[in-house]
Amino acid sequence: MVKEDWQALLEAELTLDTGVYTKHALLLVRGQGARVWDAEGNEYIDCVGGYGVANLGHSNPEVVEAVKRQAETLLSMPQTLPTPMRGEFYRTLVSLLPPELNRVFPVNSGTEANEAALKFARAHTGRKKFVAAMRGFSGRTMGSLSVTWEPKYREPFLPLVEPVAFIPYNDVEALREAVDEETAAVILEPVQGEGGVRPATPEFLQAAREITRDKGALLILDEIQTGMGRTGKRFAFEHYGVVPDILTLAKAIGGGVPLGVAVMREEVAKSMPKAGTAPPSAATPWPWPPGWPPSATWSARGFGSGRRSSGPGLWNSSGKSPPPRSGRCGGWASWWAWSSRKRWPPTLSAWKRSTASSPCRRGPR
Ligand SMILES: Cc1ncc(COP(=O)(O)O)c(C=O)c1O
Repeated sequence: MVKEDWQALLEAELTLDTGVYTKHALLLVRGQGARVWDAEGNEYIDCVGGYGVANLGHSNPEVVEAVKRQAETLLSMPQTLPTPMRGEFYRTLVSLLPPELNRVFPVNSGTEANEAALKFARAHTGRKKFVAAMRGFSGRTMGSLSVTWEPKYREPFLPLVEPVAFIPYNDVEALREAVDEETAAVILEPVQGEGGVRPATPEFLQAAREITRDKGALLILDEIQTGMGRTGKRFAFEHYGVVPDILTLAKAIGGGVPLGVAVMREEVAKSMPKAGTAPPSAATPWPWPPGWPPSATWSARGFGSGRRSSGPGLWNSSGKSPPPRSGRCGGWASWWAWSSRKRWPPTLSAWKRSTASSPCRRGPR
């Protein structure tokens, strides 16, 4: 394609888009691993990483091969008709989890995974109330948004799902007070992402497990950011010795292909009425490529082997990986992709503008 076409396509995206996202005037045409290239051939290190989606790197050869194979074999099949690829994905995923997490509900995104988790919790408990954490982020569809803290995301869309009680993250006493006999579930991120890369204390997550169990509520752990090796273990809950009733995963689990899941206990799964919830277009088996997750990539990172993580354990229980660390911007690296050859963040003012809305710059709550 000639250069003029690139320019026209960049303009088409910039002008025809709704503008919900602030876009950079940069047309990225190719990626390999951590590097991406623009239409003029400039090479960049991608520090955005798809906000946690591209954890396996761009065009990871195992992902490419699996998706190619799947596309050539069977591209769409609703969940009423089983496929070997889905079966293999379920089996692989469940084999990585504690034995009690053994029912998989597939969707297309993180917010849908949480949406499903909230519905399963209501169906299972017959209760309505949710407890969530201040600075927590669960997604932008109506249910997930209801348990997302940031008022600027929520307020334009009120009324949302109610009742929801927000408590300060890592505050055991506030949690104990908020969870009652009306509570369907407590939803938490083991490490808050949007909230500033803040890990839960072991005391907090362990208390969340005990309190929810005592009150007959469910514990939903949102590992949409932290899952799939992001914190040094396959799943962040392994640092805490806490097994949730429902675990939600998305982003990195698809290796770039839209995929989310809510994984839960069998009794929870059984509570949902038939067709009581359904992912609108998670009919295609191609997000579940054979051999997932990519074995070579995972083994290279030390996640591919080892036993299930059902036993109790605290930070650093394996002695190998450091605990998730609190740091304002640590896990996010940067909201920018910048050129490894030609451009350092274009200008200081552009850098400041681009990070102005970053949670890293907000004060503690
Ligand atoms: C912790 C957490 N939960 C849920 C979501 C929503 O995921 P998605 O953007 O795939 O809908 C995100 C997205 O950033 C997230 O960080």
